[in-house]
Amino acid sequence: MTEQKTIQTNSIKWLKECSSNTFDLIIADPPYNVGKDYETMVDSINKKEYLEFLNEWTSEAVRTLKPFGTIYTFMGFRFISYLYDILENRCGLYFNSWISWYYTQGQGKRRGFSPRHDDILMFTKHPKKYTFNLDNIRVPQKTYRSINNMRGANPGDVWEFSHIHYCQGNRQDHPTQKPEGLIERMVLASSCEGDDVLDPFSGSGTTLRVCQQLNRNCLGLEMNPNYVDMTKKRLAQPFHGFDSIDPRMKRVPLDLSDEAIRNEYVANHKRWFLKNHESKIEEFEKEVSRIYGKIKVERRKLSRPTRQNKDLFASLDYPFQQNDKVHTPL
Ligand SMILES: C[S@@+](CC[C@H](N)C(=O)[O-])C[C@H]1O[C@@H](n2cnc3c(N)ncnc32)[C@H](O)[C@@H]1O
Repeated sequence: MTEQKTIQTNSIKWLKECSSNTFDLIIADPPYNVGKDYETMVDSINKKEYLEFLNEWTSEAVRTLKPFGTIYTFMGFRFISYLYDILENRCGLYFNSWISWYYTQGQGKRRGFSPRHDDILMFTKHPKKYTFNLDNIRVPQKTYRSINNMRGANPGDVWEFSHIHYCQGNRQDHPTQKPEGLIERMVLASSCEGDDVLDPFSGSGTTLRVCQQLNRNCLGLEMNPNYVDMTKKRLAQPFHGFDSIDPRMKRVPLDLSDEAIRNEYVANHKRWFLKNHESKIEEFEKEVSRIYGKIKVERRKLSRPTRQNKDLFASLDYPFQQNDKVHTPL
């Protein structure tokens, strides 16, 4: 059993009192200083004040990160370069990845290019020793080849996830709710089951919800009491899959013409790529039928690769590597 807890507090104040080396992973989505209405705070301060805020929370957060821990930080274009500088030069962290979260819808701009991405910086505390579970975050190959690793490819650093629209069931009354699929990828890549995750600006509770379903402990810090209540309600909801998915996770590889291999692959695809996205399985199966004609989609769960399709699964670590750490509740 893991625990997800949300505390109503000013995160800077709380972090100052927190012991060093507490968290394996930090996922931070601070206000970008772009004038959003978070009810209890002003997301529009002058540049000097905002840079002080960035310096303060990052230095405290990094202190609470374990020696082999990882931090992901969201940021808009206005302050991303300052944030990079702070994490590398003031906090002494090691750069790993600059991720662009690409979305298809957003505000339009009449003089200039309409923004269609946010940035996410990934830094580690140690240059070489850090968790990165590549096999848990791969995306399906475009084409079947016996030499391809059909367990999937590295997702790269441009991630497409739609915003959660107002008509979607999981949409919370929060102005900057992030897609669960996006946070799922960070949590799966950079932590193991039972690890301790911190979200210092937890908002509607997206990171906590994802950690709940992926068996990680998670602490969320949030200033606004309404958002804390929202998070508690969200955590009590039944789970029917994460509210968003990278569109590549549903893609059906071409050249899967051999029926036996295709059936084996289709069953594995669902387990590898759609595990926490049950609602997308039907869509995937329809796409398989559309491409390959009326095929029988096997629903059985495959326990092991068979001898005949050894080449298809040759390079896999199987079964999945799972962390055996003893659970330490927060
Ligand atoms: C960008 S939103 C986070 C959204 C969240 N990732 C989600 O998916 O719902 C930033 C949040 O930080 C909160 N916040 C701002 N300053 C804070 C502070 N000093 N301490 C705690 N929470 C703060 C705001 O109320 C807001 O909900």
